[in-house]
Amino acid sequence: MKKLLVTGSSGLIGSEVVAFFSELGWKVYGIDNNMRADFFGPQGDTRWNQYRLQEKYTSFVHSELDIRNRTETGNLVKEIAPDAIIHTAAQPSHDLAASRPFDDFDVNAVGTLNLLEATRKYAAETPFIHMSTNKVYGDAPNRLNLAETDTRWDYADHEYQDGIKESFTIDQSKHSLFGASKVAADVMVQEYGRYFNMPTCCLRGGCLTGPNHCGVELHGFLSYLIKCNLEEKKYTIFGYKGKQVRDNIHSHDVVSFMYEFLKTPRVGEVYNLGGGRNNSISILEAFSLAHSLSGKEMVHEYVDTNREGDHICYISDLSKMKQHYPGWDISKNLEVIFEEILVSWKQRKKNADQ
Ligand SMILES: NC(=O)c1ccc[n+]([C@@H]2O[C@H](COP(=O)([O-])OP(=O)(O)OC[C@H]3O[C@@H](n4cnc5c(N)ncnc54)[C@H](O)[C@@H]3O)[C@@H](O)[C@H]2O)c1
Repeated sequence: MKKLLVTGSSGLIGSEVVAFFSELGWKVYGIDNNMRADFFGPQGDTRWNQYRLQEKYTSFVHSELDIRNRTETGNLVKEIAPDAIIHTAAQPSHDLAASRPFDDFDVNAVGTLNLLEATRKYAAETPFIHMSTNKVYGDAPNRLNLAETDTRWDYADHEYQDGIKESFTIDQSKHSLFGASKVAADVMVQEYGRYFNMPTCCLRGGCLTGPNHCGVELHGFLSYLIKCNLEEKKYTIFGYKGKQVRDNIHSHDVVSFMYEFLKTPRVGEVYNLGGGRNNSISILEAFSLAHSLSGKEMVHEYVDTNREGDHICYISDLSKMKQHYPGWDISKNLEVIFEEILVSWKQRKKNADQ
């Protein structure tokens, strides 16, 4: 039986990894200390997801470990000797990083280094997939020429019609402290590939989403937006006229790409992993789609100031992924994604009311 170690196993992507590989018959070991609740309060609590996984996948082993703990992280990697490692644990919010810079850097950068070094020592042949982010590009994408339509911003130059490629600069732009700690991790993951010849890869995520996200205002755009729509709670738009564009990818499609990489790993790779142009949507367009599916008007307010370093338009160019792994493609479009998130929030509310 193949063994997989996944960090952040109670989070959006980690939990999808647990489900996907458990269903394939792998033995899955998860690490998660529910730090999301510490970061975001009770709304960010991921325990429900951990319990759901433990109930459904009886062979799944949960470990209440903090990846900042270097010794214990090393011991666990040594003990399990996994066939694959997927690292999704993180402090994921821009805004929060500014108020907790040490926690942000210790989790995102140092935690990643702890895992890389444990892997090099005890499992150097094991493919190591790291969830990075498009925030490593900082706000440099905002310098591209943009065109404004009634509902969104878009790239004006033909060169960017398919989106942003992995060769885009990560240097000399504003990242937020979160983006900077993720750059440190991203470069380190690449370096363990190039320097030690380990099969590592960074997936620079666009908006990753899905029904198991605990969306909060500071993180989890669609999940939070749809929750607000259902509860008729006020959603605040921060700047850019609400026309800022995100490309959204369902967590299942993220994990199905990880599986392709594990089957034929490469060394020190980087991929932009988002929904691509077809799954791109602006906030205003997302309001309309949510309304059309739930029947509820979106209650919202507009604040003129945008979030620090926030992208105006970000679309991932998926061509490198598709070229390296032609068996992979997006399988869930925006309508399906919205519908699944809607159903999940309704179910969670029902469970909470019982
Ligand atoms: N969701 C997105 O839109 C998005 C976009 C781009 C990149 N990413 C990246 O993808 C990864 C996964 O994101 P997600 O949305 O699943 O996040 P998430 O917050 O849902 O999950 C992360 C999990 O890691 C756990 N965790 C945090 N600190 C920990 C620690 N010190 N030790 C052990 N566990 C810890 C949290 O409790 C949480 O369950 C992150 O690296 C994030 O930066 C996410």
